[in-house]
Amino acid sequence: MKKTCVVTGGAGFIGSNLVHLLLADAHVEVIVIDSLTYAGNLDNLAPVADNPRFHFVHGDICDRAVVQSTLSRYRPHVVFNLAAESHVDRSIDGPRAFVNTNVLGTFEMLDASRELWMSLDPSDKDRFRFVHVSTDEVFGSLGDEGFFTETTKYAPNSPYAASKAGADHLTRAWFHTYGLPTITTNCSNNYGPYQFPEKLIPLVILNALEGKPLPVYGDGKNIRDWLFVGDHCEALSLVSEKGVPGESYNIGGHNERTTLQIVQAVCDHLDRLLPTSANADVASRNLGSYRELIKFVADRPGHDRRYAIDPQKICTELGWKPRSTFDTGIGSTVAWYLEHREWCQRITNGVYRRERLGLAGAGQ
Ligand SMILES: NC(=O)c1ccc[n+]([C@@H]2O[C@H](COP(=O)([O-])OP(=O)(O)OC[C@H]3O[C@@H](n4cnc5c(N)ncnc54)[C@H](O)[C@@H]3O)[C@@H](O)[C@H]2O)c1
Repeated sequence: MKKTCVVTGGAGFIGSNLVHLLLADAHVEVIVIDSLTYAGNLDNLAPVADNPRFHFVHGDICDRAVVQSTLSRYRPHVVFNLAAESHVDRSIDGPRAFVNTNVLGTFEMLDASRELWMSLDPSDKDRFRFVHVSTDEVFGSLGDEGFFTETTKYAPNSPYAASKAGADHLTRAWFHTYGLPTITTNCSNNYGPYQFPEKLIPLVILNALEGKPLPVYGDGKNIRDWLFVGDHCEALSLVSEKGVPGESYNIGGHNERTTLQIVQAVCDHLDRLLPTSANADVASRNLGSYRELIKFVADRPGHDRRYAIDPQKICTELGWKPRSTFDTGIGSTVAWYLEHREWCQRITNGVYRRERLGLAGAGQ
């Protein structure tokens, strides 16, 4: 059966991976709404740009008129809300944009979706889902033991986490108050293709390739739970099909690693795939391993110590299971960045940003 999906933030890291996954099904049509901030790149959508089932709307989710006209034009069966300011460090320097997009933008998406939903005929109304994509950071920090479950109390510590928590609460309220079939997902740290290189794993890969220091915050012992982005996207698609409105689902793959372990794992895969002796940018430095570039730097203020997800609910109730192990996921991610050096250069240098502005004007 034909299915129409709106994906907000579809030009970002997880959004673009989700768009590629959804379009692999010939019955699915996808409309991306993205304002193309520094983190959004049309390059991430280049492989589907000519697909007749793909449409791009260059717009801000805080702009009700754009959101409303897009929803009423395409009348989606599912709205996946991923548009967000997503980088914790940036939220410390400039929290306003986080409140605007993550809280107010989610409000506009919910409320415009409610208007659309009210206008649908009964069978489409029944089928409609609003999937709000959130993070485990809303739960705050764990001690050495225990896991976040769907009933863990919210305790956000960074402006980013607080803004996502606010959006999660709005999403819940639009279900309880108006009956809009919303579902919230809270996922652990993602990694994989198309991730903007300000985030840990791509940053380490690109710095290592250029022989630059590999920054590790504090003592490197903060623990995060890592999930390959393709597994997250499969979970989102499944939630949109089988998830129960009003519920939330935690998504994670039981891959707890310290920051230092992550950086070391990336170095080890680089040593295997492009040894320092074969890398023209570092060969003259006689490094035995990329690990020698690791440098401990001052910690992030309010840095949560440990996150760990208990994904039992989505596994048992919806039958989700991650395909990647940590080792296969990191290995394929390092290989992807090595094979996409041009993509990396285009999104990290000024030339790319100028080019992007021109392309954005071509959006609908
Ligand atoms: N990256 C992770 O590890 C992770 C983990 C769990 C949940 N999440 C959540 O998943 C979602 C996507 O994360 P990501 O890592 O892909 O983020 P990202 O920063 O790579 O992408 C965000 C996208 O949203 C767009 N955007 C930002 N503000 C917008 C606005 N006002 N209107 C329209 N578009 C806007 C950007 O242009 C970009 O394309 C976010 O909601 C994030 O909170 C991320």
